Amino acid sequence: MSARPRITIERTERAPVTVPELGQMKAERRPIVMVTAYDHPSASAVEDAGVDVVLVGDSAANVVLGYESTVPVGMEEMLMLTAAVRRGLRTPLLIGDMPFGSYEAANELAITNAQHFVKQAGCAAVKLERGGASVDRARAIVRAGIPVMGHVGLTPQTAAALGGFKARGKTASQAAQIAEEALALQAAGCFAIVFEAIPADVCEVLMAKMEIPVIGIGAGPATDGQVLVFHDLLGIGSGRSPKFVKRYAELQGELVAGVERYAREVRAGTFPAPQHSYGIEPHELSEFRRYLDQETLAGGDADSAFSGWLG
Ligand code: KIV
Repeated sequence: MSARPRITIERTERAPVTVPELGQMKAERRPIVMVTAYDHPSASAVEDAGVDVVLVGDSAANVVLGYESTVPVGMEEMLMLTAAVRRGLRTPLLIGDMPFGSYEAANELAITNAQHFVKQAGCAAVKLERGGASVDRARAIVRAGIPVMGHVGLTPQTAAALGGFKARGKTASQAAQIAEEALALQAAGCFAIVFEAIPADVCEVLMAKMEIPVIGIGAGPATDGQVLVFHDLLGIGSGRSPKFVKRYAELQGELVAGVERYAREVRAGTFPAPQHSYGIEPHELSEFRRYLDQETLAGGDADSAFSGWLG
């Protein structure tokens, strides 16, 4: 009997990541990699890097729109950024971050705005912050058929009102409140939850109660995955980073140095060089010169023999 030829299937394309796949990853203890993105180039970069989940965070307010906090950013801005990210992504699960004021007041408002993220920006899911009334909003959005990611611990949309940008859960009662919020969001049907700026030990203890994937940012290593802000991890921007950020590149210096080199060359007349310029056949150039040398040339005649050259 002759040996059968070995067939090897090469998987170059990963299928798009789904909500159930994240549950599977938790069950199999495969760490979930989540990162933020805010435009087409950052989306293409994280797509090519092979991350699992992309959040168009309302951190866009600070890192790309120049606001002082995440509070002012609105739905229109978030939808515009999220749609640009969608156009740059194929594989990771795309989550839209519901901005402050887009969901708190009523379930109907929350459902309508969550639908905008899905219908206009192509999101698979949305994220909202805090427990309390947000639990009802999360339940309502889930019942409307849209997967919801929760977010507890440090919640930037309300951080100023709740004691500033610092770790939460450093006392037993604060930790208990975080646990209550996380469990309520889990019971409301959230498919995953972000734990932000929580002591690693608190997180580790709480993980025993969490059946949904938990993505940490400043919550230690016990979570099912990690998330960082794109600009923080790549060192883009000049502000100070929170303690939990690790920089994997220092691009701000590179960006400034690149633009400085460009400015220097423009001022020195060394850019553009011949390889950056278009050519023209000598006879075409002579004809053009003759045209310019005509004594009758007055300018502004759209019907002239050369009116097409601008095109
Ligand atoms: O807005 C954001 O970027 C976030 C992540 C840091 C979780 O909420």
